[in-house]
Amino acid sequence: MVIQKTFFLLIFPLFAFQSMYATSLADRFKQTGYVEICNEEQPAATFDSLYASFDALIEFLQANPVWAQKLYGAKERFIRSKERNYYSTDFFGFYDESKREGRNQIAFYYSNHFHEFICSHYPEFNQTSAIINFFETCLEIQKPYENIFKEAASELGVETIFSSKSGRPPILLKVIKYLPSYTATRPHYDGTAFSLFLDSTDNESLLLSPYKSSLTVDDFSSPPREFSQRHIQNSILLIPGILLTEFSIFPTPHIVIQNCKTRYATIAFAMRPHYTPQKIELSPLPNFNKH
Ligand SMILES: [Fe+2]
Repeated sequence: MVIQKTFFLLIFPLFAFQSMYATSLADRFKQTGYVEICNEEQPAATFDSLYASFDALIEFLQANPVWAQKLYGAKERFIRSKERNYYSTDFFGFYDESKREGRNQIAFYYSNHFHEFICSHYPEFNQTSAIINFFETCLEIQKPYENIFKEAASELGVETIFSSKSGRPPILLKVIKYLPSYTATRPHYDGTAFSLFLDSTDNESLLLSPYKSSLTVDDFSSPPREFSQRHIQNSILLIPGILLTEFSIFPTPHIVIQNCKTRYATIAFAMRPHYTPQKIELSPLPNFNKH
């Protein structure tokens, strides 16, 4: 117990853990699918300003399709650059699915390298405050989470997954706005090493289940939160994604169910540098519509 306590205090110096169970991180993922962390660095108000800045970006890009096109062109160019391989994904930039039936959501995938790439190759972006303000807010927000990912990998004995020249975990920050018409059908697994649910304007809409060989709708529930969202703290959840299965760490399936309201959320994804995902067979996921 003493060892476990010391471990958690050492690995998450910026955060206070939910409770100091004498259970390893791997076992906690197996039992509940997640761990809750108290975030005293960035209270809910930090995310409120992120969502205000995201709304300003959405409004600007929807009113100025030329800029949306320019941003898309920058993304296409970025995913052909060598920096892309650091993230092992092609998800970057703005995804407006507000008019797509069922999806009804708008998301931005932010990364440091994408931000730097845009600033150096497209100087005109520096003059558009809606874009630059949003980028700078994302840059500040993602900073504290690198350590959580590094220490979680270390605790699981998989620290080599982040080894690269920089030695830093590649982080994608996803900011998402679900519209009232959004509907949910099936849960999913994240294509990440770890996902960190940093904030949401409606935590109850996120349901998850620990990984099992057979999953039904009833396995999914909203994790009880020990740390509420207040002006001094926020509750964040860490879950494993599909990129750790070779180490027998299985991903946590999850779903954001519809709540017929506008909902914002922020998630930090830890990716695996220079990695080609392997073909893996995971448990099939239940259809929530048939429930
Ligand atoms: Fe997800």
